[in-house]
Amino acid sequence: MNTTVIEISSRGGRLTEAEEELLRGAGDILKSGGLVAFPTETVYGLGGDALNPEASRKIYEAKGRPSDNPLIVHIAKFEDIYYIADEVTKEAEMLAEAFWPGPLTMILKKSDKVPHETTGGLETVAVRMPSNLAARRLIEYGGGYVAAPSANISGRPSPTLAKYVIQDMFGKIDAIIDGGRGEIGLESTIIDLTASPPQILRPGYITAEMLSAVLNTGVVNDTVDSGDESGKAPRAPGMKYRHYAPKGELSIVEGEPDRVAEYINAAVIKARHAGDKVGIIATDEQKHKYDADVIKSLGSRNDEDSVGKHLYEVLREFDDENVTKIFSESFDADGFGQAIMNRLLKAAGHRVIKLV
Ligand code: TXA
Ligand code: MG
Repeated sequence: MNTTVIEISSRGGRLTEAEEELLRGAGDILKSGGLVAFPTETVYGLGGDALNPEASRKIYEAKGRPSDNPLIVHIAKFEDIYYIADEVTKEAEMLAEAFWPGPLTMILKKSDKVPHETTGGLETVAVRMPSNLAARRLIEYGGGYVAAPSANISGRPSPTLAKYVIQDMFGKIDAIIDGGRGEIGLESTIIDLTASPPQILRPGYITAEMLSAVLNTGVVNDTVDSGDESGKAPRAPGMKYRHYAPKGELSIVEGEPDRVAEYINAAVIKARHAGDKVGIIATDEQKHKYDADVIKSLGSRNDEDSVGKHLYEVLREFDDENVTKIFSESFDADGFGQAIMNRLLKAAGHRVIKLV
């Protein structure tokens, strides 16, 4: 298949008339059942018409994703939620008012307009209104309802730059919109509003504290994933799959900073002897302490926004440089840090070395 790459700068939060025209063209592709990857403030999405079962089928195929793993439906105007969701609760309205457009996905009962192909057979639908302007225009021009998982091949880190979408999707989809870097860099928070009290299924930039403050009630922060040993079934089906995996074997090292550096440096020597090319996921405060083949900093450890924004990119860079073993520093798991550690732990297949 021929894949068109479309560049959109949307600098200063505005689109030029030429860019609008390009997005109208991309919207037409969606309306006719084609697939278009697009930027969002979190990660790039692989979009298809959410109301067209054939488009959803194509999304699963392009990603190599199991079709029981439901897709998020992206909308551009709040009112559109009433068309795809039944029982739009007061909570949904309050959260949308506070956080939309933005990195929050809400699970609600689906209406009969949404095909089961899009929801992976579920009677609920995940809805999100992204803040990225090009994304919202594309959604509008594409008919208003765009199903989009992250635009990576299933199991690889989500793409935060168009070049990674090109790496994974070129030749498999109709178009890729290059809109620069996803400024948050980790996928949206998912909250299940069909549960009482509401339950967070995937941590993200919008934290449990932020959600509770708006709802005036506690939310259950129960993000079960494949590393969980309780035997509970994950409520977001996608959380059961191994995710975000770099090609190299990743381990997280937790402990006092100097001890972490000491441990990692010793482990690097050993791994190199065994023939590994070794990479380190570091922070600005610590990076000078290491000696390895590739050392990459996610930014200052006091700047969670930077750490979250760069995590997937660094994982992808290690892949590109054929690193076979990776060691990462650990991060505090509160606030946005919960999302960072959630993704890092998944990428590491829950391999954690705790230094005491
Ligand atoms: O930030 C994001 O949310 C990005 C951008 C593109 O918007 N999208 C994204 O989609 O991360 P995806 O498909 O990679 O992750 C969607 C997650 C999966 O874990 C899926 O199982 C869960 O949402 N999900 C979708 N619909 C659901 C539903 N009805 N009930 C429970 N979980 C659902
Ligand atoms: Mg994904």
